[in-house]
Formats: sequence, C-alpha cells, structure tokens
Amino acid sequence: MARIVEAIRMAPTSSGLQPFHLFVIRNAELKSKLKAAANAKDLVTDSSHFLVFAAFDTYTEARIDAVVARHAVERPGTEAALDTYYDTLKASYLPRPDDVNFDHAARQTYNALGFALAAAAELEVDSTPMEGVDNAKFDEILGLKDKGLKSVVALALGTRQAESDWLLPLKKVRTPAYDLVTDLN
Ligand SMILES: Cc1cc2nc3c(=O)[nH]c(=O)nc-3n(C[C@H](O)[C@H](O)[C@H](O)COP(=O)(O)O)c2cc1C
Repeated sequence: MARIVEAIRMAPTSSGLQPFHLFVIRNAELKSKLKAAANAKDLVTDSSHFLVFAAFDTYTEARIDAVVARHAVERPGTEAALDTYYDTLKASYLPRPDDVNFDHAARQTYNALGFALAAAAELEVDSTPMEGVDNAKFDEILGLKDKGLKSVVALALGTRQAESDWLLPLKKVRTPAYDLVTDLN
C-alpha cells in the first residue's frame, strides 16, 4: 500500500497543482456505508483497501499559494520565476466558474489513478477502478463538502482470489492498435 500511495503522490499533474486528496479506507463500518452508495457493491467491502480520489471543488488563491510555497522551500532560488508563472495561472484560473476548475482538478486525479493501477499491477495487487458510484452520497459520508473536495473516482484494492474470479482466466479484450492509433509520420 505504501508503494501504491507513493505512486499516487508522485504522479504528475497540471502545473504541479496536485488538486486532489486521497482517502485510504480500511474501516469496515465506513466501507459498508460507502457500499450502499456504490453500484459494484461487493467490491467495496471485499477490498482490503478502498481508495477514494477527491478533487478540489475549485481553485483558490490559498490553494495555489500553498503549491508555490512548497516549491520555494524545495527549490530555493526559483521564487521569481515561480511567482511569474503562478501569477499568470491565478489570473486564468481564479475567475473561472467553480465547475470548470473542478473539471480540471478531476482530470488530474486520473493521472494519479493510472499510476496507482500500474503500481498495483506491478505489485500483483488486484484492483478495480470505480466511477459508477453515487458521488453526492460519497461526499456526504466522507464529509467532503466542508473540506472543499468532491469525490471523482474510487479504487478497490485487494489480494487476488483466483478461485472465485471468473474474469481472471479470460483474455484481455482491447481495441487493436490499428484502430486505436494513427501514426502520422
Ligand atoms: C475510470 C474507470 C472507471 C471504472 N468504473 C468501473 C465501475 O464503476 N465499476 C466496475 O465494476 N468497473 C469499473 N471500471 C473497470 C473497467 O471496467 C475495467 O478496468 C476495464 O474493463 C478493463 O478490465 P480488464 O483489464 O479486466 O480487461 C472502471 C475503469 C476505469 C479505468
């Protein structure tokens, strides 16, 4: 789990904003509450660790300043360039409607989700991403509104149960490369 969480933490995001928070849920009672608000229900309670990626509900000056401050500490001498870059970003992001900023933030969670999926596969931890949940109920159960967050996507993780996994022996089905990719060179 530490390695999967570290993959999420290290995932690249637009302008390095990392506009999300990760909830790692092991608590059985909390998982049962979330199960009632999820479609693929058993996945929630069967998982050893149920992850919820929650994106910023919007960008604020304070949220962007926190990123600038972290960079300034970790990369001394870059303050002037940082201020120029993030002042331009603030001028573009802060006047935008909240839903536009949330959509942008939500897209960043998928980078982290992808890193988590790859890390889990490498570690032979089984995983199922889940979008098909009642996000409003998830937000209520996790108290996200007060934190300025909205749930985006969840990830059930657990030990492989080979004997009961009907999907395991089946071939992966994917679009052939000739349909998926156009090489313009
Ligand atoms: C963003 C995303 C959302 C998904 N949402 C769900 C979901 O809500 N419920 C579910 O059972 N599977 C969900 N999946 C799992 C996909 O159906 C699965 O990853 C895909 O079919 C590939 O499966 P395979 O690698 O076993 O072939 C989701 C996958 C992704 C990447």
